[in-house]
Amino acid sequence: MKLKHLCVENYRNIKHAQFSPGEELTVLCGENGQGKTNLLEAVWLLTGSKSFRNAKDAQLIREDQAFAVVEGETECSGLEKQIRITISGEGCEKKGRRAKVNGVEYARATSIAGTFTAVVFDPGHLSLVKGSPEGRRRFLDAALCQLYPGYLSVFRTYTRLVMQKNALLKQYHATFGAAELLDVFDEKLADAGQRISEKRQAYLKLLTPLVQENYHDISQGREILEIQYKPSFDELGFAHKLQETRARDISAGFCTSGPHKEDFDIFLNGKLAKLFASQGQQRSAVLSLKLAEAAAAQSITGQHPVMLLDDVLSELDDMRQGYLLSRMEQRQTIVTACDAELFRKTDGKVLYVKHGEISETI
Ligand SMILES: Nc1ncnc2c1ncn2[C@@H]1O[C@H](COP(=O)(O)OP(=O)(O)O)[C@@H](O)[C@H]1O
Ligand SMILES: [Mg+2]
Repeated sequence: MKLKHLCVENYRNIKHAQFSPGEELTVLCGENGQGKTNLLEAVWLLTGSKSFRNAKDAQLIREDQAFAVVEGETECSGLEKQIRITISGEGCEKKGRRAKVNGVEYARATSIAGTFTAVVFDPGHLSLVKGSPEGRRRFLDAALCQLYPGYLSVFRTYTRLVMQKNALLKQYHATFGAAELLDVFDEKLADAGQRISEKRQAYLKLLTPLVQENYHDISQGREILEIQYKPSFDELGFAHKLQETRARDISAGFCTSGPHKEDFDIFLNGKLAKLFASQGQQRSAVLSLKLAEAAAAQSITGQHPVMLLDDVLSELDDMRQGYLLSRMEQRQTIVTACDAELFRKTDGKVLYVKHGEISETI
């Protein structure tokens, strides 16, 4: 996968900017608050996903403007595609993100998943190690949505069913025919939930050896990483689990088990990383996961996603920085940094970002 050109209009603090990334490494360099992460976020939107900073669509539009446009020329196996994402604000007829690929319009930007693929590292992702299970589930689900277009619809169905079942459980004793209704929900939930959990586990099985290899290399063989998935049901299946937890669900008033409660543990040298990892180790573990996510995508789709790395080298020692710099030169990577110094040793293309504008010189 390649990004050949990006053009951004009325996006965050950027009135208008465009650039052509290099074949391998491109460094977006500049002081704080100039628009480096905004540009990386704009590239990410070409995947069809929402912002990786969890921003609402309206926040992406430049102040006092009605809409923002992000346009990318991409190339995949020699095939060029023009992706145009339009983000409309509150006042517009159709608000939110819409997409056009080679002029063909999609009502929802998420429908273009898989057209352009990228893997992003943002310092917010450090919570993957120490944060709540929700972030780890989101990591798996976001990757699966990009890899398997059908995953998003099963996931949406499951989430909707959980909400509906929760509403019923809250009113259980006051609802006529509640037990029969619960049977209907559980049958549908069992199907969607089973599929989600199996997909996540299969994906993690593919991912784990890749993460381990990355972590081994990043720590120069000094540390061993292990991952353990914590599924919400055993080999008897989710339908069986739902039967088992029915009484508990009714008395709790919500769905107490299922993929929406699953998690995975990361261990470093046998110790739970959530409790014991240092800042540098957390960063290394998250980067290992992200690099593995890209390698796994390549093994499934045949295409290596574009790497988007925001402020990636801070808090890492020289050895770890050196390893990452060498990895960045192997694939198309766009990285942000306050100081271009560390990248001088590379063949990277350096671009300077100031007040939302891009230039080739300081
Ligand atoms: N919708 C918006 N309209 C105008 N400016 C915005 C908007 N959203 C964010 N900004 C501005 O963008 C700047 C941050 O850009 P960012 O890319 O995060 O900086 P950095 O270069 O440090 O990565 C901030 O000054 C912020 O005020
Ligand atoms: Mg930034």
